[in-house]
Amino acid sequence: MPEVLGQSGFADLRLVHNALPELNWDQLDTSCSFMGKQLSAPLMINALTGGHAEVRVINRELARAAAATGIGMAVGSQRAALEDPMVRDTFTIAREENPRGLLLANLSAFCTLEEALAAVDMVEADGIQLYLNVSQELTMREGEANFSGCLANIKQLVHNLPVPVLVKEIGCGMALETVAALAKAGVRYLDIGGYGGTNFTAIEGKRAGEINIPLEKWGLPTAISLLEALNAGMGISIVASGGLRTAEEAVKALTAGATLVAMAGPLLRVLMQEGPEGLVVYITEFITNLRRVMMLVGAQKPVELSQKPLVITGLVAEWLERRGIDINRYARR
Ligand SMILES: Cc1cc2nc3c(=O)[nH]c(=O)nc-3n(C[C@H](O)[C@H](O)[C@H](O)COP(=O)(O)O)c2cc1C
Repeated sequence: MPEVLGQSGFADLRLVHNALPELNWDQLDTSCSFMGKQLSAPLMINALTGGHAEVRVINRELARAAAATGIGMAVGSQRAALEDPMVRDTFTIAREENPRGLLLANLSAFCTLEEALAAVDMVEADGIQLYLNVSQELTMREGEANFSGCLANIKQLVHNLPVPVLVKEIGCGMALETVAALAKAGVRYLDIGGYGGTNFTAIEGKRAGEINIPLEKWGLPTAISLLEALNAGMGISIVASGGLRTAEEAVKALTAGATLVAMAGPLLRVLMQEGPEGLVVYITEFITNLRRVMMLVGAQKPVELSQKPLVITGLVAEWLERRGIDINRYARR
């Protein structure tokens, strides 16, 4: 699929314009709930950082922006704070700055129950993200080599943790079979983390000094992974992420059936380049644009989007058809 490689695949998903939305701008309501928390929009700042004294300020500003705009947030991997209590405050600051908002803990899907409990406790998390990153580990010089036992570990974490578990990929996506296996293990929340955005295989390859990074284009484009995941079974809330960059793409993901969308890399870049106020402006404008696109397809609330037509074209359509997924039902709603 050469044209899709390097991209998230959202260009192949098309929304259908509604010239008669019969809605008043003031009636539009982007709010939703996720893991029992109310959000101003179905949007989350995905896991980014923590663990070094100098990044405390980044989590502080991300959390302030999440609180100011009413969206969710996940902290970065808390491994460092489990090993060194001195850097705990680089994570706990996120809860201090946003005492009532949706905040997710974050660790590798290989963590133990004790570690997961400590991570949740550390930030008084509403849930925990457990990440899968096989491609990144294989590219890292010091990376993991044993990936067996992960599903059994996730299963015992889901059954023993007091908060919801969200399993996420970080840029290679999840196929229908992976999602079905996770659902069978009891997982009810996923972030498909598809290909097309921040690319850890490429980042780690460069870090390791590789000239031609052999697997830098490995992964399921986000649009493909999202639709595979949505066709894997019932009862799972799916977060769409990985190269999701515009409000129109967010509406495409929500129309496909995602519950929430998440972004990481772009939000960090905005914070670094435009400062904390710039980040709040960026998120606020993103939500305004979300409303605009909702008006243009005639949806008053995010939940109504999943009844609106979505035309799946090009290589994404070809892929999904070959995988046995009926794409016409999306176009003819
Ligand atoms: C600087 C940086 C650090 C990240 N650290 C983590 C992490 O600790 N844990 C994790 O699950 N994901 C981590 N991610 C992955 C993101 O949460 C997200 O899954 C990925 O970047 C794809 O989204 P994007 O294309 O919007 O950036 C990190 C991403 C970036 C850019």
